[in-house]
Amino acid sequence: MTKKICLVTGCAGFIGSHLTQRLIDLGHLVVGVDNFFSGYVHNMKGFLDHPDFKFHEVSITEDGLIESLKEEYPDLDVIFQLAAIVSVPYSVEHPKLTMEVNFEASRKMIESSTKLGISTFVFAGSAAEYGNEERLPVCEEYATDEVERFSPYGVAKYKASSLIEKSDSGCSLRFFNIFGPRQDPTSQYSGVISRFVDFGLDGKNMVIFGDGTQSRDFLYISDVIDSYLIAAGLDPHGRGPLTGVYNVGTGNGISILELANTISTLTDAPFEVVFKPERAGDIKHSRADVSKITATGFSPLVSFEDGLKKTIEWARSCK
Ligand SMILES: NC(=O)c1ccc[n+]([C@@H]2O[C@H](COP(=O)([O-])OP(=O)(O)OC[C@H]3O[C@@H](n4cnc5c(N)ncnc54)[C@H](O)[C@@H]3O)[C@@H](O)[C@H]2O)c1
Repeated sequence: MTKKICLVTGCAGFIGSHLTQRLIDLGHLVVGVDNFFSGYVHNMKGFLDHPDFKFHEVSITEDGLIESLKEEYPDLDVIFQLAAIVSVPYSVEHPKLTMEVNFEASRKMIESSTKLGISTFVFAGSAAEYGNEERLPVCEEYATDEVERFSPYGVAKYKASSLIEKSDSGCSLRFFNIFGPRQDPTSQYSGVISRFVDFGLDGKNMVIFGDGTQSRDFLYISDVIDSYLIAAGLDPHGRGPLTGVYNVGTGNGISILELANTISTLTDAPFEVVFKPERAGDIKHSRADVSKITATGFSPLVSFEDGLKKTIEWARSCK
């Protein structure tokens, strides 16, 4: 495969660092951008000194960012736009900043990449674009302008995905719940798996809001990276490229209680769940209709249990 020059924004984050590593492993050059809003230098340990990695500590909101990067790297031809404010509660507290980072910056990047003839733009969308959708599994077309979205996070992601869909170029991958090594367990807003694994390893009780029957569609990080490669047409098996909006998940729902039980067994933790009242606005069930992405040849390769084992192994090594 021809060596490509790829921009990965959010390269110090959970998903961005895995994507960067895989692209470098495949022989591409990665220009990484991050401002460490929620990412860490230690996530980039595996590639920070690699000759095919060029890091720029800068915000994606910086005026003329794509223009100046294109000047420095004239062959830059692929953009993966992952950088974002990722906490939904934080977005509710900071709606203006969230719109600036999660929508306006992406809008400007899409405009610049069209103007500069950059062929590939892949955006990190989210299941939050569907609001509190009760029809399951959730199909791509359920996200419309009429949907009531409860957070600026969901609104901004939807606006950016819609721009991509209308522009007829580029691709938005609507991810459901992702998990794996490097997902930060320390923040109060972290994904449920990273927190439960952390609690399990520390022998702490697992707190469940509601009765634990609520369910989510969990996809392991390496499968997420496969979907990125397909979307950008960089898949070693020749799948893709994609345009438009695609759900990315497994299509299966796992209940939070089942999750807690499995983690407890795998970590050998004394299993104790503390139930607390349901949180206002929490979605009961979330599960992707994956027929569109499946038709491209994508299918998750890592089972839920194997993904959990790898995540636990990593979390243990960090203790
Ligand atoms: N983790 C999930 O389950 C999930 C689900 C759906 C969508 N997503 C999307 O995937 C993307 C990556 O998420 P993640 O889980 O890796 O989160 P993360 O917080 O680990 O990564 C986000 C990265 O973006 C960086 N960033 C934030 N604001 C920036 C700015 N203004 N300029 C430059 N860099 C900035 C952060 O420092 C961080 O490194 C996000 O767009 C997120 O909305 C994640």
